[in-house]
Amino acid sequence: MPSVFIKTYGCQMNERDSEAVAAQLVAKGYVLAKSEAAADVVLLNTCSVRDFAEQKAINKMGNILGTARSEQRTQITGFMGCMAQSRGRELIDRLPDVDLVLGTQKFHRAAEYLDELLAGKRDKIVDVEAEAKSEATIREHLLNGSAKTSVSAFVSIMQGCNQHCTFCIVPATRGEERSRTIPDIVAECRELAARGVREITLLGQIVTSYGRREQRDIWQVTSDMKQPAEPHETPLCHSSLSTLHSSPFVQLLEAVHEIDGLERIRFTSPHPKGYGDDLVAAYARLPKLCESAHLPLQSGSDRLLKLMHRGYTREKFLGLTRKLRRARPGIGLTTDIIVGFPGETEEDFEQTLSLCREVEFDNAYIFKYSPRRDTPAAAMPDQVPVAVREERNHRLLDLVNDIAARKYDAFIGRQVQILVEGPSRKNAARYTGRTRCNKIVLFDGGERHRGQLMDVKIERTGSFTLYGDPAIVNV
Ligand code: 5AD
Repeated sequence: MPSVFIKTYGCQMNERDSEAVAAQLVAKGYVLAKSEAAADVVLLNTCSVRDFAEQKAINKMGNILGTARSEQRTQITGFMGCMAQSRGRELIDRLPDVDLVLGTQKFHRAAEYLDELLAGKRDKIVDVEAEAKSEATIREHLLNGSAKTSVSAFVSIMQGCNQHCTFCIVPATRGEERSRTIPDIVAECRELAARGVREITLLGQIVTSYGRREQRDIWQVTSDMKQPAEPHETPLCHSSLSTLHSSPFVQLLEAVHEIDGLERIRFTSPHPKGYGDDLVAAYARLPKLCESAHLPLQSGSDRLLKLMHRGYTREKFLGLTRKLRRARPGIGLTTDIIVGFPGETEEDFEQTLSLCREVEFDNAYIFKYSPRRDTPAAAMPDQVPVAVREERNHRLLDLVNDIAARKYDAFIGRQVQILVEGPSRKNAARYTGRTRCNKIVLFDGGERHRGQLMDVKIERTGSFTLYGDPAIVNV
């Protein structure tokens, strides 16, 4: 049986797409290889959000092809995902030994195409066409990939983005927003819960826009849908829910919330302007919805927010953080920020610093602006010199790290509930879990703890990590 190695770059949506491809291939008899050198097929699932991510994948492929050539091995190689979509055949022009280029609406065709390539029926395959209903094809999971049950799973609820932020390439790589139906998503979540999953993260490029274009069709039951895992469960129907007026995304949260066996629900990534009052209220109303929100800010300057086409102001954003904290005191707030967007002045940047001081994020992912092809920002005047982008990156990083360290330290001595995920990757004697507000906790644990909701007392902190002791709580 052929073996396959998949390497993933970029976001959680990419991780999820890779998992679905791996599950599809395993179902066809492929085995998962531990390294690229040992594999008959190597697939790189790529990211286009910054130039650096693209270059990393291109260099990696160059190395893989070079090694295979020098060791006289034949290997089928392919690019998948965002860069495959945006660059298409150009990737084969650049690296002629690459066999497959698979776009973001074609992940479900991986097995069929690899069969053809392995059988020598076709020499090269490039497929980056749009495909109707492809948003509903990312549904298979690899829960038993490690012979242990996963505690936490990711479920893709939609594809694409219509926001057209001026810096962002995603609308070009992921296409228009398309959402799966609620019964389809709930069936997948139920099946996961029946297989032992306790926590589900709903995924999409812009989950707060879920179902906005489909509206009532989100309740449609499709004919090829699997039946609920529990036949006695009442069938889902819209009218059984109390809040007919809520947004499609909140309707979805409510439907997933009903699933027995699920303990925790999260979602990513949202848009701050998608947090209507119904979503804020959902935090107060739905106990399984974890008190954690990722709110991509991008900039604290109104002038830049406008140039970025973000659709909110600094004041609106601050208002949202206050509302969320009122709805769920202790909610963990994280963010994404771009430094050095075209035209960003020192004053604009200081607005970002001051907003970070005011909000006190639990963590912030900071990105140096990277011009992306065919995006409006790439052609804007006053591109910020690389050295200035670097310098602002460091200053902001220092600030957010200081704030985060203080916020983490404040946990010392406190008791928190964690969901135990499994052994820590770095030290197998330690087990890892997450608090409801999405902080990682390490403790001396064992297999018996996996999947448990446990109370631990936090004893000390490390870099973005809490160290807990379950024994102290249990005496
Ligand atoms: N340059 C730098 N960062 C970017 N992001 C998106 N596009 C760019 C770009 N051109 C960042 C945003 C987004 C995160 C996923 O990546 O902060 O929220």
